[in-house]
Amino acid sequence: MKILVVGGAGYIGSVCAELLVDEGHDVAVFDDLSEGHRAAVDPRARFFEGNLSDAEKIRSAVADSKPDAVMHFAASALVVESMRNPSRYFRNNIANGLNLLDAMVAGGVGLIVFSSTCAIFGPPEHLPIEENAPKAPINPYGESKLAFEKILRWYDQIHGLRFVSLRYFNAAGASEKFGEDHRVETHLIPNVLKVALGQKPHVEIFGTDYETPDGTCIRDYIHILDLARAHILALGSSKSESYNLGTGGGSSVREVIDVARKVTGQKIDTVEKTRRPGDPPRLIASSGKIERELGWKPQFQSLEAIIESAWKWHQKFPRGYQD
Ligand code: UFG
Repeated sequence: MKILVVGGAGYIGSVCAELLVDEGHDVAVFDDLSEGHRAAVDPRARFFEGNLSDAEKIRSAVADSKPDAVMHFAASALVVESMRNPSRYFRNNIANGLNLLDAMVAGGVGLIVFSSTCAIFGPPEHLPIEENAPKAPINPYGESKLAFEKILRWYDQIHGLRFVSLRYFNAAGASEKFGEDHRVETHLIPNVLKVALGQKPHVEIFGTDYETPDGTCIRDYIHILDLARAHILALGSSKSESYNLGTGGGSSVREVIDVARKVTGQKIDTVEKTRRPGDPPRLIASSGKIERELGWKPQFQSLEAIIESAWKWHQKFPRGYQD
């Protein structure tokens, strides 16, 4: 198939584009390189540089690449930043996203695979979180993604634009070539590995008084290659759907640090800090629906395997993409 990967120079988009090309798809990437990196664009893919706020740019990229489907990763995606700057999140993730949808409708593209998030749920009433659990986001990031999911339903109903929304829990790990290199790193695993590499003196633990067994937040870490496989399966979906994507397991911040100590053989000092605004205490996915309907199953079940792959990448590229 011909696929346009919007946001394909970022962490998750780059690995998806790589897997798509590996599987024989014809891939084009659209990215403004604000968070992504030119070196993270698979050299076998065609590249369009542009921002989704530029309606004409995305319209011509869609017209030029004539995709059968679009994968949409381009978004602002930091919970804490969204608590300081909600406007950026509503503008980038909703308003600019509309330019993409309109370009798809104009170009007659029939399917979008959308990067959604577990942040649409807010603190869950039950674990693991099923797709139909109440949606009450506690940060503008989650709110922006929930709004876009609703918009997708209307575009499906009115324009016949089919969608598959994939609600990621915590993406982690790396492929051999592409990994996690954010310009400002706020995510736990890369920050822990920077300490192991000697690039930072310690990891900060944000909140040790949560109602969890060790007092730190619990997350469901899912390997980036498992996420990428889910996107490829989504291309074969015959109906518009939303799926949660995690492994069904939960690891606390302290557990992540302990596993990283084991994987890297480094001490990894920590400093305990207060809670970070916008963080729910526990997020664990039920991925039963995507397993049943699309036959997806995570191949990386252990946190150790996930962190090992990230560690391998960070050792190979200690300064990331260096741009
Ligand atoms: N954390 C630390 N120290 C750090 C970084 C993070 O203690 O240096 C903690 C956080 O407070 C949180 C956990 O580690 O409890 C995981 O934090 P991340 O920043 O790695 O990931 P988040 O859970 O905040 O974010 C992820 C995705 C978002 C998504 C969100 C849902 O990156 O896209 O889950 O809450 F919205």
